[in-house]
Parts: sequence; structure tokens; C-alpha cells
Amino acid sequence: MEKSFTQKYFDVTAIYQDIEANDKFDMGDILTKYEDYGFSHRWIQPPVACYWVHTLDEHGNVNVAPISMGTAMWGEPSDCGWYYCFDVHNRRQTRRNLMLNRECVISYYPSNLMQESHISGMPIPKGISEIDVCRLTAFPSTKVAPPGIKECASNVEVKILDMYPLSNNTLFIGKVVGCSVREDLLEADMKIPDEPGLAGADLLYECSITGETPRLNYGRLSMNRLRCDESLGDDRRWIGNFMTWMDAEERRGRINEEEHARLLTLNTLWCENPDPLKNGAVKKELTDLLREICWRKI
Ligand SMILES: Cc1cc2nc3c(=O)[nH]c(=O)nc-3n(C[C@H](O)[C@H](O)[C@H](O)COP(=O)(O)O)c2cc1C
Repeated sequence: MEKSFTQKYFDVTAIYQDIEANDKFDMGDILTKYEDYGFSHRWIQPPVACYWVHTLDEHGNVNVAPISMGTAMWGEPSDCGWYYCFDVHNRRQTRRNLMLNRECVISYYPSNLMQESHISGMPIPKGISEIDVCRLTAFPSTKVAPPGIKECASNVEVKILDMYPLSNNTLFIGKVVGCSVREDLLEADMKIPDEPGLAGADLLYECSITGETPRLNYGRLSMNRLRCDESLGDDRRWIGNFMTWMDAEERRGRINEEEHARLLTLNTLWCENPDPLKNGAVKKELTDLLREICWRKI
């Protein structure tokens, strides 16, 4: 018998309205706690590797801030490339500098730089470089003005394309224009069968903020890696499309010729009319068949 789970619902909008109405935030920190709402924002934000955002002010002073809201994403042709999205509070120097220069370096740091991460997040006076205070080593970037940090696993050069306001924060969207990788880590990665890159670089993530003296608890992203089932899905590409997927399933014997033809027909009928009421029978047959073949033992 399958185990059945129950879910507890939280009205996140109402929780945050209450926090705002009752002034329950402290210098911008809005942390939902079990004591207050039986809820923690850690159920919204999964572990995301922390990184530094390096920017320059109008005088050329370097600023480095640790950030954990945001990540990289890729795009397809035309204009394919890698992009980066991250969110900073409006009062941050990082935000001021990005509005001014629209470029930055995003660097990923390994867990042995945890104290440096802690130091860099302190209210260090504007214009004083966290790279110097943290005893790290700067090096020139290629396509953007802010420097990279030699001790980091990678330094991603980003040009800001757009921004969007979010509750007194700014969401920045940038395009990746270059990337420096620490050579020792690059060479080691080439010898690892699943080539994890940053996933193997022992990065840190922001886990929670707890304690009488509130402190960040970091987690290490030195996690085990799991490989997806090679006996299910397109056998030549990572994802492919519905047709290449079904071709692969017939080739490996998961489905027979007749099922293959029926699946393609159902897919066409469903694409022509994706209305769940008017085309409910097609939707049901296609769903049932897919559910059955995905879990079929072969
Ligand atoms: C691990 C870590 C992650 C953080 N993530 C963010 C974030 O995603 N957005 C943000 O605005 N501040 C974040 N902060 C707080 C800022 O880094 C911190 O307030 C810093 O001093 C801001 O520097 P700035 O004013 O020079 O930009 C984070 C701090 C730490 C230590």
C-alpha cells in the first residue's frame, strides 16, 4: 500500500501582511519563525549556493556582498546564452552600484571561506573593500570592471540587462559574458566521471538564522549525487521531444509499435484541443498510458 501524506497549508500573503502590520521585522530582516506562525520561510527557499556580488562605486571602490537569493539560467537561440537573476535589498551598496554601472562579478566560494563570507556580510563602511578586509586576493576581470577573487571556485562576469522592483528589493537580470574558473578545481573536475563543476566545489548555502545572538547557520553543498534512470527517456539526448522520447521507448522495448502509434495519435489530439472538459477522454487516456509506461518494469 502506498503511504499517504497530509499537507499543512500556510497563507503566505496573510503571514507577511501580519509581519508588516505588526512591525515584526528588524532592520529589514523578515524571518518567519515557528514560534510566531508555526511556519518557516525555509519551506519556501531551498538550499541555494551563496555567492559574492562584486561591484564598483562611482569612485572605483570595490564592494563585495554575499548574496543567496537567485541563481543562473540558460536561454535558447536566437540570442542563446547564460543569464543570472538575483535579488538585493534596496538599501544595499550593491544595489546602488549596480544601478550606476550595470555590471558585476558573481563569485562562488568553497566552504573553507565561511569566515570570509561572515565578515563580508557585516556592515563594512561604504567604499572599504571586503576583499581587503577578508584578506582575499583580487584579480582583473576581462569584460567587466569589478575584479574577481582568486580564492573563489569561479568568477562569473555579468552585464545587467534589466531589473524589476519586488517589495523594496530589486531583482536584477544579467547576461553572463565571461567566467574564470580556479584551475586546480577545473583540472580535478575533468577527472570526475559526472563532471559536477560547482556541485563538486563544496559550496555553502544559507540554511537558517537562529539563536539568542542571531547567526546564520550555513550548510555545505557537499552532497551525494544521483544519476537519472537511463532506461527511461530519450536515449540520445537529455530531454528531446515527445516524438524522440517515444521512439526511444519503442527501441528499448518499453512500448510496442501499437502503443507507440496510439501515444502519438493521443498527443496530436490533445495538442489540437487542450481543453480538459471538452477533450477529457483524450486527456485521461494519454495520462493513464503515460503514467503506466513511465512506471512499467522492463
Ligand atoms: C550568506 C549570506 C547571504 C545573503 N544574501 C542576501 C541576499 O540574497 N540579498 C540581500 O540583499 N542581502 C543578502 N545578504 C546580506 C548582505 O550581504 C549584507 O547585508 C551586506 O552587508 C550588504 O552589503 P552591501 O550594502 O555592501 O551591498 C546576505 C548575507 C549573507 C551572509
